[in-house]
Order: sequence, then C-alpha cells, then structure tokens
Amino acid sequence: MIEQRFKCPNCGEIASFYGDPGEQTVVSCAACNSKGRITIPTSGQNNNYAIEVSHLTKVYGDLTAVNDISFSVKTGEIFAFLGPNGAGKTTTVEMIESIREPTAGSIKLLGRDIKTQFNDVKEKIGILPQEFHSFERLTVRETLVYFSNLYKKKADVDEIIKSLDLTSHKNMLYRNLSGGLKQRVGVAISLVNDPEIIFLDEPTTGLDPKARREVWGVIAGLHKKGKTVFLTTHYMEEAEYLADHIAVIFKGKIIAEGTLEDLIRNYGKSSTLHIKKCKNAAEVIEMLKQEGYDEVSSEGNGDIAIKIDYKERVLEILSHLRHDCIEYESLDIRRSNLEEVFLRLTGSKLTEDKQ
Ligand SMILES: Nc1ncnc2c1ncn2[C@@H]1O[C@H](COP(=O)(O)OP(=O)(O)OP(=O)(O)O)[C@@H](O)[C@H]1O
Ligand SMILES: [Mg+2]
Repeated sequence: MIEQRFKCPNCGEIASFYGDPGEQTVVSCAACNSKGRITIPTSGQNNNYAIEVSHLTKVYGDLTAVNDISFSVKTGEIFAFLGPNGAGKTTTVEMIESIREPTAGSIKLLGRDIKTQFNDVKEKIGILPQEFHSFERLTVRETLVYFSNLYKKKADVDEIIKSLDLTSHKNMLYRNLSGGLKQRVGVAISLVNDPEIIFLDEPTTGLDPKARREVWGVIAGLHKKGKTVFLTTHYMEEAEYLADHIAVIFKGKIIAEGTLEDLIRNYGKSSTLHIKKCKNAAEVIEMLKQEGYDEVSSEGNGDIAIKIDYKERVLEILSHLRHDCIEYESLDIRRSNLEEVFLRLTGSKLTEDKQ
C-alpha cells in the first residue's frame, strides 16, 4: 500500500488515500463531499509535486499570520504566491524553507516531510530571501564562490554568471552594483548548489521596470531549465507574466488559486469593450442600457466602457452603433486581469508599488 495525495478540484482541499499501485478508486473529499476517481501511480511514477503544504498555520501572539492553508506546487512550474503587504507570504515561504517553525500543519518538499527529513532535501533547494543583502566588499564572483563552498553539490559558478548575464560585472564589488544587478546576484546565489526548487521572496520589489523585466527574464530561464520556482510577489503583472499557477493570499488565507485563465474565468468579469471619443456619449449609454446592457459606464471624454460576457456581444453593439449612426474614434476590447480579480475578491486594490 502506498500513499497518494490528491487535491479536490472542487474545494482545493488536499487529502491522502492509501492503495495499491495501479488501483483505481472513487474517493470523496472530506471537506466538501464531492466525489472523484483517482489512480494510485505504479512504481516509477511519482505524484509530481515538488511542494505539498497541508493545513499550515502560524500564530504570532494574537495574530494568526497564516491560517490553515493547503496547496501543492507541481515539479517544474512557476508558482506565484500573490498578496499584499502583511498577507503572510514571507511567513509561509520561510516555514516551507524550514526557517520558521509552523504552529500547525505539514510540509513536504520533494516528497519528504520537512519536520523529520529536511536534511534529505536542504541541499536541493535555493533561497533568495526578502530584502536580500550580500557582502559589500566582495566581487560578484567572489560572492558566488563563497556561497558555493557552503554546499557539497556545486553548480559551475562561471556558468551561473553567464546565464544571469553577469559576466561584465563579475569583478565589480557588490556594493557598487545597481539594485537590479544586486537582485540578479541574489538569484545567482540561490543557484550555487544547482537546486531543484528555488524560492524567490519578492525578487523584484523596488526595482525599476527595466530591471524588473531583466529579473523576469532570469526567472523564465530557470523555468526553461525545468526548475521549480516558488515566487512571492505583490505585483499582479509579475504573476500574470511568469506564473503557471497562482495562489492569492490575503490576511493569512488563500482566497483563490489556479492558472491565470482559471482565476479570470472564475472571478473576473469577462471582457470590457471600450468605445473611445464617442459623440453624444450620454445618449449612447442610455440607448445601450435600454438595449439590455446593464454594465455600461462613462469613462469621461466621451469614452464608454461596456462589460461583455461573450464575444458575439461586440457585433451586436457595433450594429446598434451603426444603426443609430453614432460616431466614435476607436474601439478596443480588454480582457479581465488579476487586478480586477483581486478587487472583486477583497474589495481592495493591491498596492502597486512599495519601496
Ligand atoms: N516574527 C514575527 N513576529 C510577530 N509578527 C510577525 C512576525 N513576522 C511577521 N509578522 C506579522 O505577520 C503578518 C504576516 O507577515 P509576513 O511578513 O509573512 O507578510 P508578507 O505577505 O510577506 O508581507 P510583505 O509583502 O510586507 O513582505 C504581518 O502582520 C507581520 O507583521
Ligand atoms: Mg514578505
């Protein structure tokens, strides 16, 4: 008999089932009672999760900073843990890294329970902590050699320097680097032991847009190499651009989880058609409301926004405009994004920039 963990597609709860390899069976979720069929993998297969977190909780005095959260990260994916200041991101990631001790719950890394088997996996993970700093008076290369010497398994330092595009800076002192380069050195340090899982806690906070994009390029490169990346961020566009899977954390709870498409489908408001510089905008808004479009609003300067739930709506609206000989400058359709999903779920915006 072996243990197979599965995640309920209905409520996200993670549960275990014991059975023989190859056995197929119907299981029911203890949390929401929905039923599904699972197959216990035969030997040689594994359940493909690099990180499995179950009912994780952290209490600091009166504050429950992380409140009974469960999620899994598949091997080779970029998982974004998205949330505002104080949501519980760092507390969670540092419990997974075995730096902070959980109040309750369990964590597996590469199938090993970190409470009892962390030593088996500690050399297989790489960490970029939040607000990382390194030795001011070491050069980039000296820094990497220093950290590399802390591990048994060593990646080629010069290869790392090359892959992070740090070659022309390798002899510069850390203290003389720009913010973006310092973050790249931080990512480079997290790679010195050629880890399977890399934890990056807010790797681009405080960087200018250009430096942020450079770090994104580095993270996308890790993904290409098959590494599992656990990324915490409060930047919507970072999660949208990079992540295969996103969990939104708010006040210590995961309030939504899935691919970007899942989140937009489940919590977004479909798309918005924008009519730019429309003549007689107020009358057009009234006309569209009478035609049954409930979510029509003025955006000032003759611009009108109309929520549309399926694309045929666009043709209908265009035919109304043509029929009434309405003049306008241009049209565009914008898809829902994570910003809107977050606003819907929490009633508040994620702060755009914190330095
Ligand atoms: N060691 C600690 N002792 C007491 N409270 C703490 C401790 N560490 C964090 N907290 C509190 O727990 C909550 C979650 O903090 P955490 O640092 O995990 O959030 P975060 O999502 O990483 O925030 P940020 O985006 O600011 O990094 C916050 O209210 C924070 O003040
Ligand atoms: Mg943090």
